Amino acid sequence: MISPKRMRGAMRRARRIVASGVESTFGMVLPMSRSPLHREGLPAPVTNALFSRIEVDDFEALSPRLSDEDRAYWTQLEPGSVNWKRTALHYSVRYGLEGSGARAGLTAAEPPSDVHAMGRGSLAAGGSIYHADLIFATLELAGVEIPIGGRVLDFGCSSGRVIRVVKAYRRDLECHGCDPNEGAIRWANENLPDISFMVSPQRPPLASDGSSFECVFAISIWSHFGPEAATAWLAEMHRLLTPGGLLMLTTHSFGSVAYYASKRLRPVVDMRAVLTSMLGTGFGFLPMFGTKGDWGIIDPDWGESYISPEWLLNHATPQWEVLLYRTRANEDNQDVVILRRRDVGSP
Ligand SMILES: C[S@@+](CC[C@H](N)C(=O)[O-])C[C@H]1O[C@@H](n2cnc3c(N)ncnc32)[C@H](O)[C@@H]1O
Repeated sequence: MISPKRMRGAMRRARRIVASGVESTFGMVLPMSRSPLHREGLPAPVTNALFSRIEVDDFEALSPRLSDEDRAYWTQLEPGSVNWKRTALHYSVRYGLEGSGARAGLTAAEPPSDVHAMGRGSLAAGGSIYHADLIFATLELAGVEIPIGGRVLDFGCSSGRVIRVVKAYRRDLECHGCDPNEGAIRWANENLPDISFMVSPQRPPLASDGSSFECVFAISIWSHFGPEAATAWLAEMHRLLTPGGLLMLTTHSFGSVAYYASKRLRPVVDMRAVLTSMLGTGFGFLPMFGTKGDWGIIDPDWGESYISPEWLLNHATPQWEVLLYRTRANEDNQDVVILRRRDVGSP
């Protein structure tokens, strides 16, 4: 039998652990971000390349123009850091510095509030440089490149915040975007002229020929599909890509449960259900969008999904070669996966 003294010691230790972590739905402790699974410090090839196109004088002209809020943010950044350069690029678009945004290849068109967009305001001006960095940094880490003049598709592009920066960075690429949200696609077609956009269906197939893209990327798309849609669209990506073509996608996984739990962004009861389901089947799904849908997109297989690496491996192989799996690499939350189309049976 455990003595009262040892019991008191154990209780004190347990309290210390709980204080340094987050009590989970199972009464266990999820470690706080002191020891997260994610790895920091991805390269920023897009930020660096776009920044190098801008003149130093451009930034001297920037400071007097900033709003108080934007100046407060700007002055606490470390000069020369990736975040400082990226912010300078966004601000040069937002504040219309003569020529600088254009030299970087970024454009100022901004979706109005009734058009779907995942980011708004000064730090979204010109598009998502962060996500373009994420795409090219993870491709680089995987040791692969999109060939010169390649055709790329931003699958689930909304109003184009990512593909517009990809086009600014790699002017040689033939850029396409698709999304079921008609308003977002209409706006993108009218405002981002160097890119082709199309409305896509909720279920495959897309109206594109097989083997027609060298690379598809999908930011925060497999983080929403239910298991049937996730499986069907994976097969459709295989059809759309050229042999050896690259698919970069992001998922919610175990790290996202830790992220949402530690920040208390989701109800404990939902995270408990997700974990139970992930441990049992590899897949957790929360139907998030209710009767109004996601900006009008009503689909029982579109909600918030959590995919274990095991589920992904079992569904992606052997048709795909897994080139990279990086936990919580997208905004400290979603996992990033890079797959290469294989043709099973071929050498
Ligand atoms: C979380 S947003 C991400 C948008 C974009 N990738 C970005 O990062 O800005 C999810 C997008 O997926 C779109 N979507 C909904 N159902 C889809 C489907 N079946 N196939 C492709 N995209 C879908 C939504 O309309 C929305 O624009």
